Amino acid sequence: MTPPLESRSQPRPTIILLLLLLLPTATHMILGDGAVDQDEQHQITLASCPDKCGNISIPYPFGMKSGCFREGFQVTCNDSFNPHRAYLANSGVYQYIFEEQIRVEPEWSQVWSRSLDITAFELIDISVGKGEVRAYGAFSSMCSQNQTDYLLKNQNMKLGKKISPFLLSTEGNVVIGVGWRVQTRVYSYPWSPSVHGNSWQELILSCLSDLMEPQFLEFATNGSCKGRGCCEAALPEAFPIRELAPSFTVRKNNTLFKTNPCSYAMVVESSWYNFSTPDMYGYEVLPKKYPRGVPFVIDFSIPNGSCPAKGQPPPPDYACVSGNSSCANATSGQGYVCKCWDHYDGNPYIVNGCQDIDECKIRDLYPCTADGICKNKLGGYDCPCKPGMKGDGIKGTCTDKFPATARVILGGIGGIFIIAAISFLILLRKEKKKTREFYEKNGGRTLEKAKFIKLFEKEKLKPIFKSSNFIGKGGFGEVYKGILDNEPVAVKKPISGSVLENEQFANEVIIQSQVIHKNIVRLIGCCLEVEAPILVYEFLCSGSLDDILHGKNKVPLNLGVRLSIAAESADGLVYMHSKTNIKILHGDVKPANILLDDKFVPKISDFGISRLIARDKQHTGSIIGDMSYMDPVYLQTGRLTEKSDVYSFGVVILELISRKKATHSEGSSLVINFLEAYKKERKATHLFDKEIIVTEDLEILDSLTGIAVECLSLDVDQRPSMTDVFNRLFILNQSHKSQLVCEL
Ligand SMILES: *[C@@H]1O[C@H](CO)[C@@H](O)[C@H](O)[C@H]1NC(C)=O
Ligand SMILES: *[C@@H]1O[C@H](CO)[C@@H](O)[C@H](O)[C@H]1NC(C)=O
Ligand SMILES: *[C@@H]1O[C@H](CO)[C@@H](O)[C@H](O)[C@H]1NC(C)=O
Ligand SMILES: *[C@@H]1O[C@H](CO)[C@@H](O)[C@H](O)[C@H]1NC(C)=O
Ligand SMILES: *[C@@H]1O[C@H](CO)[C@@H](O)[C@H](O)[C@H]1NC(C)=O
Ligand SMILES: *[C@@H]1O[C@H](CO)[C@@H](O)[C@H](O)[C@H]1NC(C)=O
Ligand SMILES: *[C@@H]1O[C@H](CO)[C@@H](O)[C@H](O)[C@H]1NC(C)=O
Ligand SMILES: *[C@@H]1O[C@H](CO)[C@@H](O)[C@H](O)[C@H]1NC(C)=O
Ligand SMILES: *[C@@H]1O[C@H](CO)[C@@H](O)[C@H](O)[C@H]1NC(C)=O
Repeated sequence: MTPPLESRSQPRPTIILLLLLLLPTATHMILGDGAVDQDEQHQITLASCPDKCGNISIPYPFGMKSGCFREGFQVTCNDSFNPHRAYLANSGVYQYIFEEQIRVEPEWSQVWSRSLDITAFELIDISVGKGEVRAYGAFSSMCSQNQTDYLLKNQNMKLGKKISPFLLSTEGNVVIGVGWRVQTRVYSYPWSPSVHGNSWQELILSCLSDLMEPQFLEFATNGSCKGRGCCEAALPEAFPIRELAPSFTVRKNNTLFKTNPCSYAMVVESSWYNFSTPDMYGYEVLPKKYPRGVPFVIDFSIPNGSCPAKGQPPPPDYACVSGNSSCANATSGQGYVCKCWDHYDGNPYIVNGCQDIDECKIRDLYPCTADGICKNKLGGYDCPCKPGMKGDGIKGTCTDKFPATARVILGGIGGIFIIAAISFLILLRKEKKKTREFYEKNGGRTLEKAKFIKLFEKEKLKPIFKSSNFIGKGGFGEVYKGILDNEPVAVKKPISGSVLENEQFANEVIIQSQVIHKNIVRLIGCCLEVEAPILVYEFLCSGSLDDILHGKNKVPLNLGVRLSIAAESADGLVYMHSKTNIKILHGDVKPANILLDDKFVPKISDFGISRLIARDKQHTGSIIGDMSYMDPVYLQTGRLTEKSDVYSFGVVILELISRKKATHSEGSSLVINFLEAYKKERKATHLFDKEIIVTEDLEILDSLTGIAVECLSLDVDQRPSMTDVFNRLFILNQSHKSQLVCEL
């Protein structure tokens, strides 16, 4: 009894009546007891026909008793098992194993062959909605008996000929090969001669698992089916398969027969098989693991006839008898399948089979959020938002209509925002405090008094530290190029923890900032607000002497340029060594630390850096500099003197005249070669760079070698002072210049 529509406009009593009428429906909905009733009543087969075999549902058109199934869909139920097992009883649908013994040595021969019993496919389940059946299929296997003999078992699967409801599902299955040597090929007999001829066709399924060599076995990994112990191939879509026989390639030389005798091939439900390496070892491991076979998927359709054209009467014997259902021509081209409409479920092959789905009970599939009220209806469902809300419960967009609640939410958001802001401020304060602490720790107060040094804020330097500005890396840290106050600069960012703590650092920085010499790279400033102070130097555009001598694009360097580089570098070192108030040693003189400006004027960089770097007092031997240039006496004693710089400079001279890199590796050392050559004949002409060997320059080159050899003396007292070195280089340079003038 439904109240008439106009009753809504009538006075109260009727409305109460209306509510009472609605109430039972509402409780019903909430308790959800309707589903159980519906499922129990849901008929899946013809009247008075059994619908189960064991725990397997058998829906029409499948059936067991005569009159209970459509032709071709018979199922037999074997009650000697518990639970009972169901089999496809269609006489054209079966499998058998074809066995043969193959001998490969001394020559290929078939020892014997036979067909085993025909077996029906055991059913796993039937899904009429999807038009699918799952059943167990056999394995094909190839097992070696010994060095020469194989036992082959080929599964031959037949799903009927010409007119058959069954077809191998191409989407639902894959072909899998497992083992040490298997090329799985699938032979298929096409069901329609008009489609693919009338003989067995080999489907080329590129599935090859070949672990021919025993050592390849280790490449097999669990779960991976990519050709190492396991291979997988999809079935070709445009090739409807009714008959099929996976097979193997037998090869000669059977080295793994004892540990890995068997390989397997199977057509199996997609993503069912998970390869595991023990499956490759031992005899018939997989068939023993899955004695009933492997699950595979069969598509079924009503084989004869097709869906009626629009407006045409259905053919006699039309299968889609349920209301709320539709017909679809089978994609294989033969027959048709019946489907319940969307939002209907059940069996389209029986009268009243397709029933409306109560979507409100399956929220996983049919979403309706907690803010919505789910209402089932025929062929769908509604999910309006709760009273006082607007939006769509299906999309989950229900929101409150009322500004009051909105304000609460806004308030909440505001609160969160304020908390975030406060946290941010606290963090900022902490950061500032840390910045200040670092500043003080690094001797900021002392440095504030120095006139020549700029103190940079870390924010100002931040943009420089990006990878595109990176120019190099040294023992000290990373170097970046940038522009500060309109001046190109090189910024050195030390490895944290490597720099001296406290005032000592500040003092060093002050000393260096006061060093103003044409052959020394100028320290412009530093940033103390970070844990390890950052140093800012003037930027030199031609790179280092190391780049120029040994870099990728070698520039020609005549002797004149080399001499002036040597002399001027020496000048820089002299200046530092002889500064009156405090002597500054370099400690790491090498071509990479001699930078050149646009006119190739050398400037020594990283001066005093070695002193800035904290040295572990216990380990005097913790050497910071480059071993290839390091004074061996300093290495032994751990005492850095000005003569250590002299030694290193000697190596630099050798590199300048030979254009070869000094490397620390013993045997091929540039230094050793020079010293030995010089000891023998007091010259080392064969070691000179070919580019500068000119007869009239040989004298100068020999003198240069002499200076270098003296610098490299192992007796520290025999080494000249830097001043001495500079003077001699200066004279050589001058005489070379005047020589050029004379030639002109
Ligand atoms: C039937 O029962 C067996 C074992 O009792 C179980 O493995 C199988 O999943 C069940 N099948 C169905 C369709 O419920
Ligand atoms: C289809 O098969 C049914 C029996 O299953 C038969 O009665 C009918 O004549 C066949 N129809 C056609 C078009 O072959
Ligand atoms: C049931 O299965 C058993 C064991 O495989 C077999 O011996 C028997 O013949 C089968 N019964 C029927 C009715 O197929
Ligand atoms: C290999 O095994 C087969 C079958 O077991 C046997 O007939 C054959 O003699 C064996 N061959 C060798 C060389 O052992
Ligand atoms: C694969 O898993 C099995 C156990 O499932 C294990 O015994 C085997 O060692 C694993 N193989 C590899 C290569 O990890
Ligand atoms: C078989 O292969 C193994 C490994 O590749 C090799 O050592 C052996 O000599 C081969 N045997 C024959 C008979 O070719
Ligand atoms: C393989 O793994 C999947 C996913 O974990 C699982 O569903 C399936 O049952 C496994 N197959 C076998 C044969 O164990
Ligand atoms: C199915 O195929 C038949 C014959 O090929 C055709 O007349 C009919 O329109 C098709 N029906 C559908 C729903 O595609
Ligand atoms: C269609 O579905 C509705 C709702 O489940 C049901 O009441 C009706 O009987 C169905 N119609 C037919 C013809 O099966």
